Amino acid sequence: MKVAPSILTADFLHLERELQRIDKDSDFIHLDIMDGTFVPNISFGFPVVEAVSRAVKSPMDAHLMVVNPEKWFEKLQSLGVQMVSFHLEASGRKTASNLAEIRRLGMKAGIAINPDVPVERLYKYIGKADFFLVMSVFAGFGGQKFIYESLDRVSALKSELLKRGSDALIEVDGGVGMSNIAALREAGVDIVVAGSSVLGAEDPAAMIRSLQEA
Ligand code: DX5
Ligand code: ZN
Repeated sequence: MKVAPSILTADFLHLERELQRIDKDSDFIHLDIMDGTFVPNISFGFPVVEAVSRAVKSPMDAHLMVVNPEKWFEKLQSLGVQMVSFHLEASGRKTASNLAEIRRLGMKAGIAINPDVPVERLYKYIGKADFFLVMSVFAGFGGQKFIYESLDRVSALKSELLKRGSDALIEVDGGVGMSNIAALREAGVDIVVAGSSVLGAEDPAAMIRSLQEA
């Protein structure tokens, strides 16, 4: 299992120190970018992404929770981001062209969906996306409770990917920790995002390793 710690609940006054505690063991650093319109919260923007890029060796995974996500793909590429996901709910008919644009810029392209979006709506993008981000909480805040129905959504998506011979990855985000990591692996998840369970742990690096090995 690959683990992408989210820095949303980090101590931003000591961000460098927080990053040093996770960078060596992380598979990716997950960056939650919110605009206060698509979600009822604002997190951080490009100056923070730029600062993170100078402090970490792990590849950066940007999760755009914004309207008009296509405005920001080039900027993210220029900051060295390797994976970009945007929400299907925010992209509508531009979804396929957004995926193509992210790929054209040399990044891995992902589509994210909130828990109330039928997972079948992702199926027509199989072959066009490098990964699918299935939210296991409603996007907007760290520290929420894992929604268990997400496991069925992942299993359904995983069977569809296998049926079509797709090697696209499945990422799950929200409320992930030691209590659900085994079930997520069994359901077919490739990458978990873990915010509060990692940053809130006494030893974040050890927690990342436990999640990877679970
Ligand atoms: C929620 C974000 C998540 C969040 C995860 O909108 O997309 O990445 O930071 O945090 P935890 O692991 O605390 O649920
Ligand atoms: Zn996220």
